[in-house]
Amino acid sequence: MLLEIRNLNVYYNTILGWTKVLSDINLDVERGEIVGIVGESGSGKSTLGHAIARILPPNGKIQGDIIIDGVNLAKLKDSELQKYRGTWVFMIFQNPLNSLNPVKKVGFQLVEAAKIRHQREGKKVNERDLINEVIQVLKDLRLPDPQSIIDRYPHQLSGGQVQRIVIAMSLLLKPKLLIADEPTSALDVTIQAQVINLFKQLNKELNTSILFITHDISLAYVIADRIIVMYAGRIMEDGKVEEVLKFPMHPYSQGLVSSIPTGDKNNNKLPAIPGNPPSFFALPTGCKFHPRCSKVMNICKEKEPDLINKNGRRVRCWLYE
Ligand SMILES: Nc1ncnc2c1ncn2[C@@H]1O[C@H](COP(=O)(O)OP(=O)(O)OP(=O)(O)O)[C@@H](O)[C@H]1O
Ligand SMILES: [Mg+2]
Repeated sequence: MLLEIRNLNVYYNTILGWTKVLSDINLDVERGEIVGIVGESGSGKSTLGHAIARILPPNGKIQGDIIIDGVNLAKLKDSELQKYRGTWVFMIFQNPLNSLNPVKKVGFQLVEAAKIRHQREGKKVNERDLINEVIQVLKDLRLPDPQSIIDRYPHQLSGGQVQRIVIAMSLLLKPKLLIADEPTSALDVTIQAQVINLFKQLNKELNTSILFITHDISLAYVIADRIIVMYAGRIMEDGKVEEVLKFPMHPYSQGLVSSIPTGDKNNNKLPAIPGNPPSFFALPTGCKFHPRCSKVMNICKEKEPDLINKNGRRVRCWLYE
C-alpha cells in the first residue's frame, strides 16, 4: 500500500470559529493505482489533496494519520516535511500559478525539478542534458516554442501554458504519489487527451499512484481505476470506476452519473440533483445528503450512516445497512 489515510478530519479556522470540513476520511491507495476524486464544488476535494500533501493554508488543521510509504506525514513538523515534498508527494494545484515561484524563470524551475529527481536516483547530470530533458517534456506536452517558454516568468504565460508547465514539473519530479487537482481544466480537449495519456504513461512506467481530482465524472472514467465520491467532506461511495458508473449505489452518485451527457440527441435533458450542497456552518443532522435525496427515510434524518463495505465497494447510505 502506498497511501493509508486513517480517521482524517480537517478543520479551517474562520470568523465563525473552527469548522470541520473533512470528516472521518479513511482511504487506501495501492502503488500504481489511479483514484479519481469526484463531487460537487465545495465537497472538500482540494482540501483532501492539500491535507495529504501537507500544504493546507495556515488556518487549516489536521487530525488523524496520513501514511505514505510507511511515513506518517500527519505527524511530521513543517521542518521535517521538506524531504518528502515534491519527491514523495507532489500536488498540481487547482490554480497552477500557486505551484510556481513568480520571480524565477520557468526554465530554471523545471531544471531544478529534474535535478531533484536525478539526485534522488543518485545520478549526476550536466546542465545541458537537464535543459534538453526539460525541453523534451514540454514538447511531449505539445507546448509550442519551448525554447522561448523556458525563458519566461510564470506571469508571462497563458493559463493553459502555466497548467502544462506544472504538469511538466510533475513529469520531471516523478513523485511516488501525484495529486492532480483539475489538472486539465484550462486545456483544449485535444491537448487534454494527450496530457491524460502522459499521466497514464507516468503511472505505467514508474508505478506512480495518482489522485486525480475532478468535478467531471466522465474524465475520471477515462483515467481512473477507482473513484471516490465526496459530499460535504465525506466519502459517500468508493469503488471500481466501471462498477460505480454502471451501478452507482449511493443516491448522490446516481444523481452525478445520470447527469453525464450521453451524446444521444433524444436524451440530452440532464436530470440535475435538486437543491444545493449544504454549508459547513449549518450541516443537516443525519445523512448530509438527506435533504436532497429522493430515497430519504426517517432514519436518514436522525443518524448519519457509516461508510460500510458492500459488494466489494464502500458506501455511506442507510439503504444498504
Ligand atoms: N482556507 C480556507 N479557509 C476556510 N475555508 C476554506 C478554505 N479553503 C476551503 N475552504 C472551504 O472548505 C470547503 C471545501 O473546499 P474545497 O476547496 O476543498 O472544495 P472542492 O471540492 O475542491 O471545490 P471545487 O470543486 O470548487 O474546487 C468549502 O466550503 C470552502 O469554502
Ligand atoms: Mg477544488
